[in-house]
Amino acid sequence: MSVGLIAPRLDVIKPSPSMAVTARAIEMRVAGIDVVSLSAGEPDFATPPHIVEAAYEAMRRGETRYTAVDGTAALKKAVAGKFRRENGLDYGPSQISVAGGAKQIIYNALLATLASGDEVIVPAPYWVSYTDIVLLGEGKPVVVACTEAEGFKLAPQALRAAITGRTKWLLLNTPSNPTGAVYSRDELAGLAAVLLDHPHVHVLTDDIYEHILFDGRSFHTIAGVEPRLKDRTLTVNGVSKAYAMTGWRIGYAGGPEPLIRAMATVQSQSTSNPSSISQAATIAALEGPQDFLRPQALEFQARRDRALQLLRAIPGLTCQTPEGAFYLYPNCSALIGRRRPDGTQIGSDDDLSLYLLDQARVAVVQGSAYGLSPHFRISIATSMDLIEKAIGRIGEAVEALR
Ligand SMILES: Cc1ncc(COP(=O)(O)O)c(C=O)c1O
Repeated sequence: MSVGLIAPRLDVIKPSPSMAVTARAIEMRVAGIDVVSLSAGEPDFATPPHIVEAAYEAMRRGETRYTAVDGTAALKKAVAGKFRRENGLDYGPSQISVAGGAKQIIYNALLATLASGDEVIVPAPYWVSYTDIVLLGEGKPVVVACTEAEGFKLAPQALRAAITGRTKWLLLNTPSNPTGAVYSRDELAGLAAVLLDHPHVHVLTDDIYEHILFDGRSFHTIAGVEPRLKDRTLTVNGVSKAYAMTGWRIGYAGGPEPLIRAMATVQSQSTSNPSSISQAATIAALEGPQDFLRPQALEFQARRDRALQLLRAIPGLTCQTPEGAFYLYPNCSALIGRRRPDGTQIGSDDDLSLYLLDQARVAVVQGSAYGLSPHFRISIATSMDLIEKAIGRIGEAVEALR
């Protein structure tokens, strides 16, 4: 390969770290090692049968051709219905965009809007892709650390302090990957009050874990809480997590028409429309029965409870209670500086995650990937048996540290 083939813009980004851990765990498994992976970012449930059936029907009807770039009229209608019904948000078809996953929606939005040096406020810990997508768009991520003591949530005064004349976007994610933190109505109202003072700042809210909420919590999204922000908010969602449809690749958003048009332009020169078949299946997901969502969230809640109980029994680990999503984000600061049985020092959460993979044969993702250390993320999107087995092994490995 000739030197200089790969563009400099790739120097600033890295492949998704959670995918890197998953890949290493798969390699170990292929080599015959019994690895338990707690690194998955996808539900372990099957896509509900009525959604699968809708895909077959679409193919039989001949819906196998190109569609409008950012979604069929029928799907946009279903998305508009979802936003109205579940979030009290009114979006017309020209204010809705459909793409190959929420990730592509976010990519389209940032690529369509960032000029070199534009700032994007990213509360940490954050989903790994946010900062890299900002960098690909030549923007500048302004990472604001949100500590465990703050519930891993952005406080209004921290938002105010982070805003400059170059701020283009605030990225919000509720419920959060990796912490499971969920913003209450009041907390969103507090952020909204700051944003009302700064009309040049737009908000991208990633609500993809909306339906995975614990302890009877209800979901709020910022454009619903403060309607005066609706014209500068992109409300992002998708079917990957709620409907166990990660492989179908459909995400969607509601937002101001000029932004939606610009996003379609980006998509028209990259992937064109998302799969016509997946779009038809998504209509069935959004308009079909929703009664399985609650039991599904309760199943995640039971796993969260068990995982918390086991983790908190491990000396050296503490863990905040996640309010939604399917991750836990234990704090491992007490283990930093300790030594592995072979004498190597654990200097960071990267070291600890590698140690857990080697010693406990459990794959987790290091907190450094999410911009707030020392922590690691475990996913509970796996069976109770495997959660118990994995955390048991983590406990033994931690005990072996000196
Ligand atoms: C916070 C967050 N946003 C977006 C995504 C991507 O979702 P999609 O499958 O719709 O691209 C993920 C997936 O892990 C996520 O955790």
